[in-house]
Amino acid sequence: MIAVAGAFAPAQNGRSSTELHSGVTRNPNFAKLAGGYLFPEIGRRRTAYLAENPDMADRIISLGIGDTTQPIPEHILSGLVGSASKLGTKEGYSGYGAEQGMGDLRAKIAEKLYDGNIKADEVFVSDGAKCDIMRVQQVFGPGVTTAVQDPSYPVYVDTSVMMGQTGDINSETSQYDNIVYMPCTAENNFFPDIENLPRADIVYFCSPNNPTGAAATREQLEMLVKVCKERGSILVFDAAYAPFIRSEGVPKSIFEIDGAREVAIECNSFSKYAGFTGVRLGWTVVPDELTFSDGTKVRDDFNRVMTTAFNGASNIVQGGGLACLDDEGLTEINTLIDYYLENAKLLKEAMESIGYDVFGGADAPYVFVKLPDGKKSWDTFSEILEKTQVVTIPGAGFGPGGEGYLRLSAFAPRDTVIEACERLKKAMA
Ligand code: MLT
Repeated sequence: MIAVAGAFAPAQNGRSSTELHSGVTRNPNFAKLAGGYLFPEIGRRRTAYLAENPDMADRIISLGIGDTTQPIPEHILSGLVGSASKLGTKEGYSGYGAEQGMGDLRAKIAEKLYDGNIKADEVFVSDGAKCDIMRVQQVFGPGVTTAVQDPSYPVYVDTSVMMGQTGDINSETSQYDNIVYMPCTAENNFFPDIENLPRADIVYFCSPNNPTGAAATREQLEMLVKVCKERGSILVFDAAYAPFIRSEGVPKSIFEIDGAREVAIECNSFSKYAGFTGVRLGWTVVPDELTFSDGTKVRDDFNRVMTTAFNGASNIVQGGGLACLDDEGLTEINTLIDYYLENAKLLKEAMESIGYDVFGGADAPYVFVKLPDGKKSWDTFSEILEKTQVVTIPGAGFGPGGEGYLRLSAFAPRDTVIEACERLKKAMA
């Protein structure tokens, strides 16, 4: 007899209905996940702090989750408004679109952002890079091994666990079995010694990096592509922060590297480019040359996932994406990014002025602060919240390699960044 949960289920065997459960076995992979997803956990701790200190609510400054705060600029907004308005007309109305995105937008992404290195039909428009990482995982399935930078954006590890690619977490190392952790810390200039690490089928790599803020050089990316090629690995390159790159010669896409078309997928997003974190629009590039060991095209399987489990990005939002890639839109994006980069500079200077070693923040919106020896990052997160009401992110939240670091996000209004700098300088000196 399968017990039924819920308010209307009859009580059985003297047990109240709320104690009853379904007859469905829990997916054991979810039981392996070590905790909640990082950013809701930060939110939970902030809420708990405010529940105990309600008078501090107005003082909270968030340098935590990398969520954009500046309004969407005029030209880009006109793209969103224009495509919304069209829906109210007989001529302009559209229903379902292509699951891979509007042809115009795919072509414009290929032309404006990939300089002819990519064809329009290799671009899959979506609702964001994070969602695409899970879709990429669905293509790979449970039978692959994964490598991640350590520390890294938690989505690569957590989705690998959910897909059943990993063993349990090791409580001593805080690492999952069957994931290759590629240490990226100040000691190796935040680039892994990949040649001397074990092979994995899928290598996730984010540049400019979240959380460390390091942007890999051309030589480093050439090495990455070379090693993946030699080992027959697929590289999943996360370029969501590419437009923050201002240093001369640093590649903004993995497809600037010779040979990448045979080894790499690139995930990207308008979230951080244009303040689309709530609007939702991203894309993934899967080149025609990328194949599985049996010769079938990865692109075809990704297309199968998109056409089966996704109905295409919102037509309103894709109008905004087209406007982003007009000359006016690209100029507006640069202005937005300048703003956040100036915030990053202020945060970096503030922490350096009180003696911390600080990384990132030059070609990335994240500033990665090295804590004094022995200081734990979650403890420091709590200490800073209590003393200054500034929300940060502990490096350990991004994996064991992030222990001893703190991430500060530059996505915040300027006045709050200036205020946060003052408070941090006073409290952390
Ligand atoms: C972050 O804070 O790391 C990012 O905003 C998270 C995300 O983009 O999903």
